[in-house]
Amino acid sequence: MVRSVMLFEASGLRVSMLDDATDREAVTELSAACADYALMVTGAPPTPQDGERFFQDCPPGRSLDTMLKLGVRGDSNTLRCLIDVVRDYPEPGIWYIGLLMVHPTDRRTGLGRSLIEGLARHAAGQGAQRLSLGVVEANNAALAFWTALGFTECRRTRGQRIGSLDHLVIEMDRTLVPASRIAALQLPDR
Ligand SMILES: CC(C)(COP(=O)(O)OP(=O)(O)OC[C@H]1O[C@@H](n2cnc3c(N)ncnc32)[C@H](O)[C@@H]1OP(=O)(O)O)[C@@H](O)C(=O)NCCC(=O)NCCS
Repeated sequence: MVRSVMLFEASGLRVSMLDDATDREAVTELSAACADYALMVTGAPPTPQDGERFFQDCPPGRSLDTMLKLGVRGDSNTLRCLIDVVRDYPEPGIWYIGLLMVHPTDRRTGLGRSLIEGLARHAAGQGAQRLSLGVVEANNAALAFWTALGFTECRRTRGQRIGSLDHLVIEMDRTLVPASRIAALQLPDR
């Protein structure tokens, strides 16, 4: 059994830091299971290098230690979902979600929602003011998902090349409730 460091808990889910040394293969397997997503976004199927790429992926000018590579494991230690997040990108106070993938057998069970709500609480606790991300216009499920979670559109950029495809990318964000306000809301009545 792989031991991993839990970063936060969300609706009973243990959200842990993923590690290149132990989790590369599990990430490649989850990517292979999400072939629908790779084909839609890049125009090509997943590859055996996806795990390696996931752990190396980092925006220009940033180092890997500004990133969170997180996952939720299932019973047999398989990866049910993963997310990567860049802290304070592109500016302080914004946590940018780079990738989110939920295993097809776990979709529409509330896993993605729980993960993002947990991330939102964790990020607010660390002083973040906003979660932000980009989603390709063709990804109707993801657009519905982010909208259901309270994210709103900020801007659209045409002609974004990903793999062999040109996309219209929609940037969305959500303002976070400051951790002090969450704590005050949870105080018992006097
Ligand atoms: C998008 C994705 C992350 C959603 O994760 P999920 O765990 O299935 O989402 P949840 O079950 O938490 O759904 C929460 C809400 O989002 C909306 N939603 C999620 N998937 C949807 C879909 N396929 N169609 C319409 N609405 C959807 C619904 O309102 C849902 O609430 P409901 O089930 O009570 O109606 C998942 O489908 C996925 O991994 N897709 C492939 C990768 C991807 O597109 N990543 C996002 C890139 S920006």
